[in-house]
Amino acid sequence: MIIAALAATMTASAQLHISTPTTSLLLNAEPGERFEYMYYGAALADTDIPAVAESEKHVDAYPVYGMDTFNAYTLAATHADGSMATDMRVDKVSESTDKDGSKVTRVSLKDTLYPFYIDVCYRTWPACDVIETWTEIRHNENKAVTLTEFPSAYLPVRRGNVWLSHIDGAWGNEGHLTHEPLTPGIKTIRNIDGARNSQNAHSEIMLSLDGKPQERTGRTIGAVLCYSGNYDISINTDASAWHRLTAGIDAHNSAYRLAKGETFLTPAVALTYSERGTSGVSRNIHRWGRDHRLQHADRERPVLLNSWEGIYFDVNEPVVNKMMTDIADMGGELFVLDDGWFGTKYPRNGDKWGLGDWEIDRAKLPNGITDLLKSAEEKGLKFGIWIEPEMANLYSELYEKHPDWIIQAPGRDPVFGRGGTQLILDLGNPAVQEHVFKVFDRLMTEYPAIGYIKWDANMPIKNHGSHYQKADAQSRLYIDYHHGFEKVCKRIREKYPDVMVQACASGGGRANWGILPYFDEFWVSDNTDPLQRIYMQWGTSYFFPAITQAAHISASPCHATHRATPIKYRVDVAMSGRLGIELQPSQMTEAERTFCKDAIATYKAVRPTIQMGDQYRLHSPYDGDGVAALMYVDEPRDHAVFFWYKTEDFHNHHYPRVTMDGLDPDKKYKITELNRIDKTPLSCEGKVYTGAWLMANGLELPYRHIVDTPMMSDYSSRVLRIDAINN
Ligand code: GLA
Repeated sequence: MIIAALAATMTASAQLHISTPTTSLLLNAEPGERFEYMYYGAALADTDIPAVAESEKHVDAYPVYGMDTFNAYTLAATHADGSMATDMRVDKVSESTDKDGSKVTRVSLKDTLYPFYIDVCYRTWPACDVIETWTEIRHNENKAVTLTEFPSAYLPVRRGNVWLSHIDGAWGNEGHLTHEPLTPGIKTIRNIDGARNSQNAHSEIMLSLDGKPQERTGRTIGAVLCYSGNYDISINTDASAWHRLTAGIDAHNSAYRLAKGETFLTPAVALTYSERGTSGVSRNIHRWGRDHRLQHADRERPVLLNSWEGIYFDVNEPVVNKMMTDIADMGGELFVLDDGWFGTKYPRNGDKWGLGDWEIDRAKLPNGITDLLKSAEEKGLKFGIWIEPEMANLYSELYEKHPDWIIQAPGRDPVFGRGGTQLILDLGNPAVQEHVFKVFDRLMTEYPAIGYIKWDANMPIKNHGSHYQKADAQSRLYIDYHHGFEKVCKRIREKYPDVMVQACASGGGRANWGILPYFDEFWVSDNTDPLQRIYMQWGTSYFFPAITQAAHISASPCHATHRATPIKYRVDVAMSGRLGIELQPSQMTEAERTFCKDAIATYKAVRPTIQMGDQYRLHSPYDGDGVAALMYVDEPRDHAVFFWYKTEDFHNHHYPRVTMDGLDPDKKYKITELNRIDKTPLSCEGKVYTGAWLMANGLELPYRHIVDTPMMSDYSSRVLRIDAINN
């Protein structure tokens, strides 16, 4: 909101107070002057605004390179005449309301010498205390202007004992959480994969202002870049009083020649602030994501069986049919046929062949997909299928027909990806965009009953070169790839608004808020080991709600870590996300099947709370205390589901008792253990407690399960249902 009548006239004062119920961003946008930042944090009272505006330091709100910006800048441009200096002043401030009801405040800046313009925009989402910010850059210079740095957002944070939290990792170890203090120098989180931007690093961060990050307390800022491509998030802690955060598209090797009249739109950065620690920031982001970005956020996600770890490339009709029967018997709702179903000249019998040739392999599936769809329907299942439409293999008919569609350095042989033969298509090329759209469109047109697509991407951009771009526009490769990707996604969603789509990219390579407006969820990791998943899902939950996190029960020993774990532990961990199964059901024991069948029924009953509720992270596995615990609470605070996992087992070791959160202190709640295996009930079973007791004291949980000796193990987990009662 712009302060009273001042905004319209911008005369006496030009303070811009952009606010949500619990947060305030205070800026100064005096026409003809530099655009200034004063404050971001807890909501300001009316009384404080003028005083804060007078007394706080004023620093650039969007500094640019070239004039008086020797150590911190956001945007850099080479103007039509070759000058590398830019110097912006406020032109005007305007406000509008978008179709979705959100308010946008636009601060229009103008260069002092050239017809070069930047609009710095802010969109407020009051219900989740999120302010999105981005820029729109354009010019009327007589030749192209080359943008060499173009972050979306800049935020100065007062220097202090400020800690950075971010998620990093690797294939099979996605979502790994790192907390580190900000020290002098520049800390950069950068992704240059080209296609999959979240496996090794993530484009979201938190800054804890009160020292080491705590899950439940402390002033914390969250910043989420909504982009699917390369990014650069840097925090410059220099000699000044500030840690200066910039976030946006990575500009390395991506200088962008902006034509006269063209607008360069940078992706939004969502900012939020909470005094309830990292978990508080996560809840704001989850809510913002569910309410404003995630595809089909209001729909409960089905329980599925995905074929990959069960049969890998060995797809064949009877086996697939049997898997469908098995998952239907266990109460599943969707079967997903993963890789291996396609290719005629080059059958997809391994990862060397067939990508690009999305024709059914009739040797494996003589009756095609039509029969599988019919059989799924008879079993009451929805049917889903895997594609990797941005890719080709050297051994594919697609590559033979369109060698110029691949990304390849001019005049050089390509460096290959997966299987030693994988190639990535140049999505900046409209012909490739059409192809990728058609892969999806053809499947959905021929088989309209398909209810779910698993969209994979298993290769980075390794080679720099586009057959499509002109010689002087090769640096558009990365950015145009993602513009093309988004264009295709939009087109798909316009035509197919209902189908569910999962983003997968060598596991968790595409977990970002740039794509989630088009995708329903993402695959967290190819590693389904429950112990490691506790850590991965914990880290991932910093920025993504449970409804987006595909979490599957897999075989024991786990194919990735070879760790053997009991079925209860595997189920309890997967149930804290979007539950699925990823194994060959015919290899399960009868006891495992029964356990899964019961757990699926249980999950369906608590699914709305897990998938749509607020998440409270209670005790972090990263604290090294041997336990992890989290809970979900529905909006009216009537239902909650509590998850407790032992992450280490030492004899006679004492584990901390975990207190709960998010409940109504005045309500009474009844406790029911879910997925119980113990011979005797927990001491709290069926008992009624006030929310106040549960939040102040938690419940005493035994460290081991009371089971017969053959079932004894060092793994323990508990899932409790917590339901408000009326009297
Ligand atoms: C990637 C995905 C897996 C699976 C395989 C298929 O690795 O992460 O889930 O779909 O591809 O080749």
